[in-house]
Amino acid sequence: MSQIDYRIKKVLFDQATLEKCIKELANWVNETYKNSKNLIIVGLLKGCLPFLAQLIKDVTVDFVLDCMITSSYDGKDRSSGNVKITLDLQNNIADKDVLIVEDIVDSARTMTKVVSLLKSRNPKSLKVLTLLDKPSGRLVEFKQDNFGFEIGKDDFVVGFGFDWEEKMRQLPYIGLLTDKEINKHKKH
Ligand code: IMP
Ligand code: MG
Repeated sequence: MSQIDYRIKKVLFDQATLEKCIKELANWVNETYKNSKNLIIVGLLKGCLPFLAQLIKDVTVDFVLDCMITSSYDGKDRSSGNVKITLDLQNNIADKDVLIVEDIVDSARTMTKVVSLLKSRNPKSLKVLTLLDKPSGRLVEFKQDNFGFEIGKDDFVVGFGFDWEEKMRQLPYIGLLTDKEINKHKKH
């Protein structure tokens, strides 16, 4: 693997591990929607980007791609509970099969809000697929239909779409920040 960023203390999931896992998730999509006539895959920007790009390479069922932007973090490392839709879908999802693709469910505030909004538009079905799950972070009850890996209570991850103050999304792996980097942020 290429050199690890100096702000990373530990790589949790390297590129090969992520690619293998995402291939399996694409197979799950193919199986789940093999009889679907109208699938819309909804990516939640920006965290979903590397995951979504990798996933759809192995999706063989027909689908229309759409995106939404939600913001919940106010640029910090903890969910504010203040979830806003800043960019809405281009497609009408009534009577369509909708699959939301997201980076992680942590507190589940974001996903609960997005799911209830999209359900109110009467899709035929609505499912959620995320790359990671942090079940210990839940502030509201939520269980996605499928996910790649579970991470622990104290794991704040960066890379492969996950940001640190909006940066570091481009790392091809998912890792944990060094304490030095986290403390630097706390001083501000
Ligand atoms: P939730 O509303 O708390 O479930 O979190 C929603 C969003 O917070 C996710 O879509 C991520 O963008 C972000 N997030 C949660 N955990 C992490 C993390 O460990 N690293 C980076 N972003 C995170
Ligand atoms: Mg996000």
